[in-house]
Amino acid sequence: MKLHIVVLAAGKGSRMKSKRPKVLHEVGGKPMLKHVTDTGQQLGAEAIHVVIGHGADQVRYAMADEPLNFVEQTEQLGTGHAVDQAIPHIPDDSAVLVLYGDVPLISEQTLRELIELQDDRTLSLLTAFMDDPTGYGRIVRDAADEVAAIVEQKDASEEQLRINEVNTGILAVSAAHLKEWLPKLSSDNAQGEYYLTDIIEMAVRSGLEVEACQPESLEEVQGVNNRLQLCELECFYQSVVAERLMMSGVTLYDPNRIDVRGDLHTGSDITIDVNCVFEGNVQLADDVVIGPNCHISNSVIGKGSVIKANSVIEDTVIGQDATIGPYARLRPGTQLGDRTKVGNFVETKKAIVAEGSKINHLSYVGDAELGENVNVGAGTITCNYDGVNKSKTELGNGVFVGSNTSLVAPVKIGDEATIGAGSVITTDVDPKQLAVARGKQRNLDGWKRPTKK
Ligand code: UD1
Ligand code: MG
Repeated sequence: MKLHIVVLAAGKGSRMKSKRPKVLHEVGGKPMLKHVTDTGQQLGAEAIHVVIGHGADQVRYAMADEPLNFVEQTEQLGTGHAVDQAIPHIPDDSAVLVLYGDVPLISEQTLRELIELQDDRTLSLLTAFMDDPTGYGRIVRDAADEVAAIVEQKDASEEQLRINEVNTGILAVSAAHLKEWLPKLSSDNAQGEYYLTDIIEMAVRSGLEVEACQPESLEEVQGVNNRLQLCELECFYQSVVAERLMMSGVTLYDPNRIDVRGDLHTGSDITIDVNCVFEGNVQLADDVVIGPNCHISNSVIGKGSVIKANSVIEDTVIGQDATIGPYARLRPGTQLGDRTKVGNFVETKKAIVAEGSKINHLSYVGDAELGENVNVGAGTITCNYDGVNKSKTELGNGVFVGSNTSLVAPVKIGDEATIGAGSVITTDVDPKQLAVARGKQRNLDGWKRPTKK
C-alpha cells in the first residue's frame, strides 16, 4: 500500500505564549514540524499532508521549500475533523499514517514498526505506558486484552482514569476505512470535538484487529505544549546527539555542555571542550581541537586545526593546521589557508588569507586578500568602508605590515613589501618597497611639563 502521511498542526498552542505558531518552535535548531516531515520523508511517503490552521501563513512560509501538501482547517473542531480535511487528497488504496506537528522526536524506526503492523484488516496504534497518564486518552482493553476503545481524560470514568496505557495519537490505518468512519464521528462528548480516537471502537466493531506497539523511548511520543516541555525535548535531543558524537569517536569533555543546532559532521579524533554551540552545517575534519565556549556556524574546519577558547566563527572555511583564537571572530566570507594563524581580538570579514599568513593580535581585516606568509602586525586595520562603499585591500606574498597600520582601501601592497609601524597607507606600494607614512619623530630638548596653576 502506498503511504500517505497526515500531520496535524492546526492547533493554537496558546500555552507557548508566543507570536510564532507552536510547530515552528525549534528543537536542535529545526522547527518541530520539520523534524516530523523529515522523518516522514525518510519513510518514503507518497505525500505528506499538513493540516494547518492557526498561523497557517507563517507555517506555509517557513516550510515553503518542502514538498508538502498544506490543507487548511479553518475551525479546529477536533483531531478527527482535522484528519478529514486531508482525506480528499488521499486515494482509497493507500495507508494513512497520522502524526503530530508538536511531537517532533518520533523516530523512523518506531514508525516503520507501526506501518509494518498495519494492513487492510488491521489498524495499528502507538501506545505508551506512563506513570502519570493525566491528560492523555486511555487505552481500554477487553477481557482478552485486545484494544477495544480509547477514552479521553475528560470523558473517562474513575476506573478508566487508572489505566496507565495511553494513546500517543499516532496510528496507521487504510484510507478506505478512514473514509468510511470519519463521516460517522460525532461531537457528542465532554469537549464537543470530533475525536479521531473514536475510530478505534468503530474499527473493532467492523471486525478489524487493533494492534498496539510502543516506542523505544517515551521522549519520542512526548508532545510540546509549553516552553518547559520544549526545553525537556531539547535537552533529550542534545543528549542523543552528544552520545552519537562520542560513539563515532569524538571526545566531548562534557556531553551535557554541547549544543548542536543543525548538522555537525565530524572526522576522527576530534576534541571538543565545554560550552560549544554548533549551528547550521558545520564540518570538522580529523584531529580538529575546539576549545571552550566557541560558537561555530556554517563553517568548514580543516584537519588538525585548533580553535582556541571563546572564538566565534560564521560562514568560514579554514584549511589544515590553522590556529584560531582565543577570542577570534571570523565573520562570513572568511577563507583561511593551511597553517594560518588568527589570534586574539582579531575580526575578519570577507578575508581570503593564503597559506602560512598570520594576523595575531587586535586587528580588523575585511574585504581583503592576503598572499602567503604575510605578517599583519598588532592593531592593523583595513579601512574598507568610506561610509558608502566597501573597497578591497590586497597584500602580496611575504608582505610585512608593522603594528598599528591603517590600510585605506582600495589599496595594493606588492610582494615582500614592508609597511612601517603606525602608517596610514593610502596609495599602492610596489613589491619589496618600504612604506612609512607617519609623522616624523622630533625630540625637543629642555621641554618643561606644565605645572598646576
Ligand atoms: C489527543 C488525543 C489523545 C492523546 C493525545 C496525545 C484525540 C481526541 N485525543 O488529545 O487521546 O492521548 O492527543 O497527545 O485525538 N489538532 C488540529 N486540529 C484540531 C484539533 C487538534 O490540528 O481540530 C492538532 C493539534 O494542533 C495538536 C494535535 O492535533 O497538534 C492534538 O490535538 P490536542 O487538542 O492537543 O489533543 P489532545 O487533547 O491532547
Ligand atoms: Mg484537546
